[in-house]
Amino acid sequence: MYCLVYMSSPTHEMDDEEVRALLGRAKRNNDRNGITGILIHDRRRYLQYLEGGEAEVEATFARISADTRHRAIIRLHGLTISRRQFPGWAMACKMSGADGSLKACVEPLVKDCDRDVAEELLKFAEARDRAACDQTARADRRT
Ligand SMILES: Cc1cc2nc3c(=O)[nH]c(=O)nc-3n(C[C@H](O)[C@H](O)[C@H](O)COP(=O)(O)O)c2cc1C
Repeated sequence: MYCLVYMSSPTHEMDDEEVRALLGRAKRNNDRNGITGILIHDRRRYLQYLEGGEAEVEATFARISADTRHRAIIRLHGLTISRRQFPGWAMACKMSGADGSLKACVEPLVKDCDRDVAEELLKFAEARDRAACDQTARADRRT
């Protein structure tokens, strides 16, 4: 079992229809390729954790890397893992203006993961929550 984690930023703000189409296609492909994982996003940044056979995960990441709907793609790591962390395909997202933190959305989804995996994903969500706070504070100062 192999896992790969990357971060990226959307090239434009996708509307709900675009997001639905992207995820529908991703889920269909992932089911076919035995890939599970999680996509976490807050409309400004994505973090995706993909797991499955090494060849399938790398082939999926190659397709994802060529997708012009996101940019600044940073591959964080690709490594062998002892067990599958996600039984299916999960997604956590916080739309701009929505109540609650991204961390609160991610927490229930990682409760059965190994500690290091859960920590990595929660750290990303916390960082995005801090960035959203900073942005609100900057907007408040301007008004
Ligand atoms: C943020 C993001 C995450 C994606 N995640 C997946 C994924 O998990 N699996 C997948 O097959 N495609 C994913 N895609 C879509 C791929 O980039 C690509 O469009 C798709 O795999 C092409 O599949 P098709 O040949 O069936 O059209 C993602 C795209 C973006 C922008």
